[in-house]
Amino acid sequence: MALLFFLVYNMVGDNMNIVDIINKKRNHQELSKEELTYAINSYMQEETKDYQISALLMAICLNGMSEDEVINLTEIMLSSGDTFDLSSVSGIKVDKHSTGGVGDKTTLVVAPLVAACGLVVSKMSGRGLGHTGGTIDKLESIENINVNLSREQFIKQLNEINVAITTSDVNMVPADKKLYALRDVTGTVSSLPLIASSIMSKKLATNADKIVLDVKVGEGALLNNKEDAIELAKIMVKIGKHFGKETIALITNMNSPLGNSVGNGLEVVEAIEALKGKGDSNFINLCIILASHMVSIGKNVDIEVAKQEVMENLNSGLAYQKFEQMVAYQQGNINNIAIASKTLSYNANREGYLNGIKPLELGNYVMKLGAGRKTKEDIIDYGVGIVLNKKIGDYVYPGDSLATIYIKNEDVDTSPLDDIFIIEEDEKEKDPLLYDIVK
Ligand code: URA
Repeated sequence: MALLFFLVYNMVGDNMNIVDIINKKRNHQELSKEELTYAINSYMQEETKDYQISALLMAICLNGMSEDEVINLTEIMLSSGDTFDLSSVSGIKVDKHSTGGVGDKTTLVVAPLVAACGLVVSKMSGRGLGHTGGTIDKLESIENINVNLSREQFIKQLNEINVAITTSDVNMVPADKKLYALRDVTGTVSSLPLIASSIMSKKLATNADKIVLDVKVGEGALLNNKEDAIELAKIMVKIGKHFGKETIALITNMNSPLGNSVGNGLEVVEAIEALKGKGDSNFINLCIILASHMVSIGKNVDIEVAKQEVMENLNSGLAYQKFEQMVAYQQGNINNIAIASKTLSYNANREGYLNGIKPLELGNYVMKLGAGRKTKEDIIDYGVGIVLNKKIGDYVYPGDSLATIYIKNEDVDTSPLDDIFIIEEDEKEKDPLLYDIVK
């Protein structure tokens, strides 16, 4: 793939100029595949400079991209590195991707659950940055677990037990790594075509047959309004289909943290509880919805049939056994999950309905406790975090414990939580869990 990338670059590069390409996008004109190839590849070769590609990204951010442009950009990014070859893994491979949220540990439940239903879940995940955590960080709270499987280990595990979660050992989509770092510091993260090509190039590189996307919308998500989330979902579904991968997207709520825990080890414990059918019903329901859609497209069966199979595997304990098996295959000790030994309770200071828990602010609070990274270099504490003791809609009284905070040091300031937990006299209508489905 990467070789093809450089050959194409050298063929198209001769009579092109990055300034013309920036001007064209600035003037609302559509860029050809050759022009996009030149822009991305010359940037990878360090001929085009950061400031020039930043100008192009901003022009894309302001003026958008046509469907052809987004598909071409995705293909060019995909070709910038290696793809993962899963042809030696038998069975249908289904992947799941979340655009990220606070307390989102669904992969830990959904991957073994879908594998228990007989599909292959080949999951390559990442680490977290900022207020959202990464699946790999959560898994690393399990003592000794190996989340850096070699290709051979990954494929062997998939063939033997249908499920593996790892970081990637291959050079996948280096163009996205470079572009994303630049977008992060140039105010160009929120562009829908740029998000779509970034996510889908990585999904395509991992090479599953079918893809279910969880596009989160709300205060704790990348996107705050439903229309943008639906638009993003439509673009990503089109890209998936263009490349021959059946893709569907669920638009789900992220106006409050998902489940009752935020923090790496605590979230693994919550995922284990959910696999045993216990815990926050919102979180369990979302896992069931996602898993049912994965089984439905993976096996080409009606969603109700898929849901029944998912429920059987959850209720029989087979999904939990699959999780145990996966952890054991990856050398993890499931009996030793990092949980901080010191706790303190955060109590309500007034009476009323718990109408909201601000997800972004809670995510940042937990990050500052040590559970997340502000910069890529930060070392995280797997044991710290927060467990919510009340649900949205509960009526609370002064002195009721709203949350248990798992801490490393005693000197934790709980005053920011006064603005994070919203207690009001009148009960507010609850948001739905699932807003829409884009196929
Ligand atoms: N996640 C990604 O992988 N890419 C984006 O652009 C945004 C979120």
